[in-house]
Amino acid sequence: MEVRATDIYVATFPRSGTTWTQEMVWLLLNDLDYAKAASLNLVDRYINVGISIWGLASRAKGAKILKFKEEDKRKYKQIITPGCELLAAASDPRFIKTHLPMCMLPPNLIETAKIVYVARDPRDVVVSLYHFYRLMPVPQFTGDFKTFWNMFVRDNVIRTPYFAHIKEAWELRNHPNMLFLFYEELKNDLSNTIKRTAKFFNKEYTDEQISVLCNHLNINNFRHNDSVSLNFLADVFIPGEEPFIRKGKVGGWRDYFDDEMTVECEQWMAKKLKETGIQFPVFSNDVTKK
Ligand code: A3P
Repeated sequence: MEVRATDIYVATFPRSGTTWTQEMVWLLLNDLDYAKAASLNLVDRYINVGISIWGLASRAKGAKILKFKEEDKRKYKQIITPGCELLAAASDPRFIKTHLPMCMLPPNLIETAKIVYVARDPRDVVVSLYHFYRLMPVPQFTGDFKTFWNMFVRDNVIRTPYFAHIKEAWELRNHPNMLFLFYEELKNDLSNTIKRTAKFFNKEYTDEQISVLCNHLNINNFRHNDSVSLNFLADVFIPGEEPFIRKGKVGGWRDYFDDEMTVECEQWMAKKLKETGIQFPVFSNDVTKK
């Protein structure tokens, strides 16, 4: 896969704030062109490099036929076509979204292109992923949260292992081509995180412009924004499940973990944080400390 110096990557473990970051990055690099952003869905503005669950679903033998409205067929084609095919034909600058870990991306990527990586508290990630896999017709998880958690922590959920993914990007966090962000930083201080991101791309905006962008990115507006949502997939999502843009909270995991899961998770996180040296801004690495 060819890497170009003008490529811009947004890389994450799924459910870590990818969509939110994609919109922020795209707007910062496109002179805050809200009209253009509104006219093009993120699936048209970014090429997704990696495994397309939809692509697998549409090809799997015996998979139920995913039916799309006529006007949504083009967007659907966009999400099932392998990213590397779309990349070759794309003009610069190419905006690329990926859930692949760094080790599965081209080795010259970090020296050549710019990467914004976003990490999120794994407890909130697992809850969000659970809801997402219940919403999706594939893999269409139908069990309860505890079952999902047990699979996640044992690396039996598609996209895991979680910590290995973060670690590879974390190790590159001081590279000038890497901006390493946390979902919790976006939540706690969006304006400052936007400023850091703008600086990373050598862009300058006034406080007034940043304040407008904060408002645009606020989840209460974001969830009604058709050009960032996956509303065009509404007909194939499992009815009654929580939406793609869901709660957008820090610490929502507390409503899902029982005492047994909490203890197991604390032990898992303490071990992995020690092994990897990753430091989250929201909690001390002694995760048992309240
Ligand atoms: P929750 O399920 O915890 O609500 P991704 O884009 O990587 O799939 O991440 C999805 C998560 O980001 C979901 O988390 C979603 O609600 C949250 N999210 C999306 N847009 C957001 C926004 N503007 N502000 C805060 N969180 C947002």
